[in-house]
Amino acid sequence: MAIARRRLQCLLNRVCRESSRSFGALPQGNNPSSSQELINLEYEFSAHNYHPVPVVFSRARGSSIWDPEGNKYLDFLAAYSAVNQGHCHPKIMRALQEQAERLTLSSRAFYNEKFPIFAEHLTSMFGYDMVLPMNTGAEGVETALKVARKWGYEKKKIPKDEAIIVSCCGCFHGRTLGVISMSCDNEATRGFGPSLPGHLKVDFGDKTALETIFKEKGDRIAGFLFEPIQGEAGVVIPPDGYLRAVRDLCSKYNILMIADEIQTGLARTGKMLACDWEKVRPDVVILGKALGGGVIPVSAVLADKDAMLCIRPGEHGSTFGGNPLASAVAIASLDVIKDEGLAERSAQLGNELRHQLLEAQQKFPEYIKEVRGRGLFNAVEFNSKNLSPVSAFDICLKLKERGVLAKPTHNTIVRLTPPLSISLDELQEGSKALHEVLELDLPKMLKGKPEKVNPTVPSTCDRCGRSLYSSN
Ligand SMILES: Cc1ncc(COP(=O)(O)O)c(C=O)c1O
Repeated sequence: MAIARRRLQCLLNRVCRESSRSFGALPQGNNPSSSQELINLEYEFSAHNYHPVPVVFSRARGSSIWDPEGNKYLDFLAAYSAVNQGHCHPKIMRALQEQAERLTLSSRAFYNEKFPIFAEHLTSMFGYDMVLPMNTGAEGVETALKVARKWGYEKKKIPKDEAIIVSCCGCFHGRTLGVISMSCDNEATRGFGPSLPGHLKVDFGDKTALETIFKEKGDRIAGFLFEPIQGEAGVVIPPDGYLRAVRDLCSKYNILMIADEIQTGLARTGKMLACDWEKVRPDVVILGKALGGGVIPVSAVLADKDAMLCIRPGEHGSTFGGNPLASAVAIASLDVIKDEGLAERSAQLGNELRHQLLEAQQKFPEYIKEVRGRGLFNAVEFNSKNLSPVSAFDICLKLKERGVLAKPTHNTIVRLTPPLSISLDELQEGSKALHEVLELDLPKMLKGKPEKVNPTVPSTCDRCGRSLYSSN
């Protein structure tokens, strides 16, 4: 017995030695620590699937971020609305630490003490029978699509393999294969075909077009997937009454209304869900991002039993979905949103921010084409003719130099979506920085940049033929 144990130990030692050799130990005392070194390291060793603004996050609290050199920035992106509660919120961090010391993972092969509490908490907060927990947003969307297809076959009696999902032109729901099959983003779709069958597109905000599709193909349509406000498209708000019309049409044609509230939900737009703006209850709601309090990926699909119980053991799931660590963090994240009145805060501060941005528009009408948003979900769209050859990305680089971190979407739009815990003064600082960029930096940039050599390509969506960039 002792000999066998010694042999096993020798074997383990050898494996450890060999694996550390083959993976290459990090050189001692040579850890890169400056922003530039870290950016270079990432460029060298990570896939180039992002085009980040060149700033390295080292530490963050609330709406403030510090880089390794100690420079402070204000966060006007909030990790695409995953940090609605503010960075490292003490209550969420406490929940994380306490749970991390007890239990982190059971897998759903067993039960754990936290997931049932989270499930009850979330469903009662939003008024749905059941939740299916996942991790990332895209997984949440995939889950909702599977629920819809299954419901379509079992309850609506759609013939086998003929279920259709309708989604909107300009939508963004993530980057898995199923999801990009309905994407209007050439960068996300080109070179990744063939796309999944069973999808149809409709113009966002057009209830007549939606009814036409429902009338023609309604007996095969299982679900209508949409963002109540399109985020990645540039905070595109549908006409008043659209959400109500979607609800009525989905009920009329027995189609599941599936709201992707991954970005718009959890107080971002000034309501707990963006669908609340029209007091509409979707059949299926997808949540993500801020559900994990900016700490851990947590997504969830909410639905009633009629749809949710179409999914049976073994048909869908995820090893980490519903894990106790994520569940504890999600409970705390929801409590912070509720206890701190973040929806009301977002509504009020959003009005203030838009007021400040509209003042900027009045001062620079040649540059700012439109200011739009709900709550703290806002965008400034620039007039591309006057901005060119400067891009929205260039504007974000200048904002960064002035201590404000924002991210462009497309060529001409800058999203302004700070943590909902941001203070009025910080909000003002953000607007002031934009003002200064337009007043002081932009004229120099326009002079300094050569005339555009590469015309913006492509200008239309491969998927639906829609124009991707505004024409002026
Ligand atoms: C509306 C919407 N749905 C889905 C996703 C995908 O979420 P994730 O990046 O967590 O997969 C996003 C991400 O930005 C989103 O904005």
